Amino acid sequence: MGYNVVVVGATGNVGREMLNILAERQFPVEKIVALASRRSLGTEVSFGDKTLKTQDLDTFDFDGWDMALFAVGSEATKKYAPVAAKAGCTVIDNSSLYRYDPDIPLIVPEVNPEAVHGYAKKNIIANPNCSTAQMVVALKPLHDRAKIKRVVVSTYQSVSGAGKEGIDELWDQTKSMYNPTDDKPAKKFTKQIAFNVIPHIDVFMEDGSTKEEWKMVAETKKIIDPAIKVTATCVRVPVFVGHSEAVNIEFDEFLDEDEARDILREAPGIMVIDKREDGGYVSPVECVGDFATFISRIRQDSTIENGLNLWCVSDNLRKGAALNAVQIAELLGREVLKKG
Ligand SMILES: NC(=O)c1ccc[n+]([C@@H]2O[C@H](COP(=O)([O-])OP(=O)(O)OC[C@H]3O[C@@H](n4cnc5c(N)ncnc54)[C@H](OP(=O)(O)O)[C@@H]3O)[C@@H](O)[C@H]2O)c1
Repeated sequence: MGYNVVVVGATGNVGREMLNILAERQFPVEKIVALASRRSLGTEVSFGDKTLKTQDLDTFDFDGWDMALFAVGSEATKKYAPVAAKAGCTVIDNSSLYRYDPDIPLIVPEVNPEAVHGYAKKNIIANPNCSTAQMVVALKPLHDRAKIKRVVVSTYQSVSGAGKEGIDELWDQTKSMYNPTDDKPAKKFTKQIAFNVIPHIDVFMEDGSTKEEWKMVAETKKIIDPAIKVTATCVRVPVFVGHSEAVNIEFDEFLDEDEARDILREAPGIMVIDKREDGGYVSPVECVGDFATFISRIRQDSTIENGLNLWCVSDNLRKGAALNAVQIAELLGREVLKKG
């Protein structure tokens, strides 16, 4: 016996990955349905070796469905997630809409699985931002050992984090560079993304930071520990898939780089690739399609008392979105619904 599962936003980057991962991980599915907007009614999407035809979210009846994995923007989520939740179908949401609601758990299963029991208040669980998800997987086991005081992170975020349009813009603009008559000005991004980097993701906040940077601060506190101070600079780079992060961590206690490497090797969801030689680290193209968060370049920061630096790379469509959502579905099934 399995679950009746709804995938909402099934024609998008994250939705398609959710279907792939549900199939890859042999999630116990009794019935599955793929939803998108009316625009893509009947569009075919793959689920393992099956093909599903997408149905219209607007007219779908959630009654009798166990869980709905949402991967549409905040606006559509605001309209449809409460409908699903009210019908008794637990929502696992990828948008940022519910992440900071104290009555909705924000979960990374390797880090705070116990939070799943808070789902019942609104029948909704939130999935974190892509750059937060991979970072907290690495921070948690180190925090358990030496208590993190402060994190300084710079991100190098791929264009797939901005949806289908982000991928298309990098592709089209890159081709147009070789054909000067085919000008492709910036549309999705605020400046040219091909052969460039843009220090701006999401809207500006009053203090001069961006919302993406604010999300990393607020979500790390909610998921791991409100006492951890985080300062972030989030940058869009011309990479299709895979977010990278240079992370500087200041601890309460001294943590030796070798011990940190051993702790991370043992930690769930992490793969340490850290050789001090040419190519002895992971770059984003190498993590595409993988489940793990890769950690490299672990080294002491001798400019502060108890500091470490590391490099953290993961597939943003997987750990940063679809994989984490499916892991939450597995957790919800295992701990709460107990049907599979
Ligand atoms: N990409 C990432 O790394 C990432 C990471 C974490 C979270 N997220 C979040 O996940 C969500 C989806 O992101 P994405 O990258 O997959 O975007 P995307 O590739 O642009 O796909 C958007 C999906 O939402 C559907 N949709 C949009 N408006 C709709 C409406 N009114 N009714 C029904 N369906 C609607 C689209 O359907 P049509 O094809 O019919 O338009 C499509 O299936 C967003 O909230 C995003 O912030 C993304």
